[in-house]
Amino acid sequence: MTRIALLVGSLRKDSQTLKLAKALTKLAPESMEFDFVEIGDLPFFNEDLDTDTPPASWTRFRNEIKAADGVLFVTPEYNRSLPAAIKNALDVGSRPYGASVWGGKPAGIVTASPSGIGGFGANHHLRQPLVFLDMPAMQQPEAYIGNLWNLFDEEGKIVTEGTEDFLKSWMEAYAAWVKAHI
Ligand code: FNR
Repeated sequence: MTRIALLVGSLRKDSQTLKLAKALTKLAPESMEFDFVEIGDLPFFNEDLDTDTPPASWTRFRNEIKAADGVLFVTPEYNRSLPAAIKNALDVGSRPYGASVWGGKPAGIVTASPSGIGGFGANHHLRQPLVFLDMPAMQQPEAYIGNLWNLFDEEGKIVTEGTEDFLKSWMEAYAAWVKAHI
């Protein structure tokens, strides 16, 4: 069994991206289990707070990432880049200096958007810090999910043709990526 920390870039309760993340966990191979890791309660990273008694949410977050075999990011695009909540989470997990929780964790990136571009900007901006954090990020297949507002029915089931099959095959590829890197 591999344990995957799942980080969702939208913090709102009725997030379409959260629905997508939930759908992905249902389409994943049985060998994967998922922990939705909260990032909305992390104070902005500030070295002044990173003492022997950092904010409790930072410690909780760092421990949850440490416990994971891999990290799956499912995120919308904000202003052609990644949401600040994801970037802040990356910064919080990267410190204290020399004690980053990210190194070596195989990453998967799924971006989503109501438009046809599918969060391309967020997807590729997110890849930049992952290089420095030494996280092997799966390159192929890429996942840019467009048409986000019409993807689900009332029960959260995917209704657009072909999307479910694509996401299932993407999760199978990510499962293999994680196994190859742990
Ligand atoms: C957006 N949205 C957006 N969409 C996109 O495709 N490219 C973009 O650059 C942006 N920029 C952007 C900035 C900000 C601050 C917000 C709040 C939104 C729209 C976004 O994709 C849309 O709101 C999604 O539905 C967000 O996902 P959730 O919250 O439904 O998961």
